[in-house]
Amino acid sequence: MNDAVIAAITRRVSAGRFAPDGNVSDRQIHDLAELATRAPTAYNLQNWRMIAVRSAAAKARLKAVAFGQAKIEESAVTFIICGQAPSHRELGERLLPAVEAGFLPSSVVENWITAVKQSDDGNATMQRDEAIRSATLGAAFLIFAAEAYGLASCPMGGFDAERLARAFMLEQGESPVLLVAIGHGARENWPQKPRMPVARFVTTV
Ligand SMILES: Cc1cc2nc3c(=O)[nH]c(=O)nc-3n(C[C@H](O)[C@H](O)[C@H](O)COP(=O)(O)O)c2cc1C
Repeated sequence: MNDAVIAAITRRVSAGRFAPDGNVSDRQIHDLAELATRAPTAYNLQNWRMIAVRSAAAKARLKAVAFGQAKIEESAVTFIICGQAPSHRELGERLLPAVEAGFLPSSVVENWITAVKQSDDGNATMQRDEAIRSATLGAAFLIFAAEAYGLASCPMGGFDAERLARAFMLEQGESPVLLVAIGHGARENWPQKPRMPVARFVTTV
């Protein structure tokens, strides 16, 4: 049992407010993204892109497509977590470091490229599902990375995806899946909700 992980999971809440004068450095943004991108992805596709929105101008652009949510301006940085449609063309490149490090045989890479081609190419639903799966896990890792650094966070799905894609010039095949606002000084959060009994959500078969 890892007490530190359990403590982080039980401590985390979505920030109701952020200290408006909070700041995060380039180094912190890099370190948070580095931890977030350790999240698992199907076939190790790493099919995501994270846009760290930190400048006042970019925050204003994001807030305008996120129903005016104040947390975007109050937080130090809001990450736009984008999922990408899986591309068998890019998979070889993404797996190359694992092959070079000697823990993934190149024959497996060929099999995986064929599998992605067969399951995802031309299948818009599958592509979108994969994009959402990867980005959601990346967002979850980012939230816990923030927790580990003593920062407050809030996932936000309240935005207009089409307007956001235009405002931040997302590329073909990229979907904005979640925003994650991160900042300081939110320990006077809204109180944690009483929880439903776990049995309400679990069926053991
Ligand atoms: C998919 C998703 C979308 C959410 N969207 C928003 C949002 O747009 N704005 C916001 O302030 N909080 C948002 N939240 C935060 C939830 O309100 C919060 O997670 C929920 O009330 C449970 O509280 P907790 O995170 O403290 O456990 C979102 C959470 C999730 C998982």
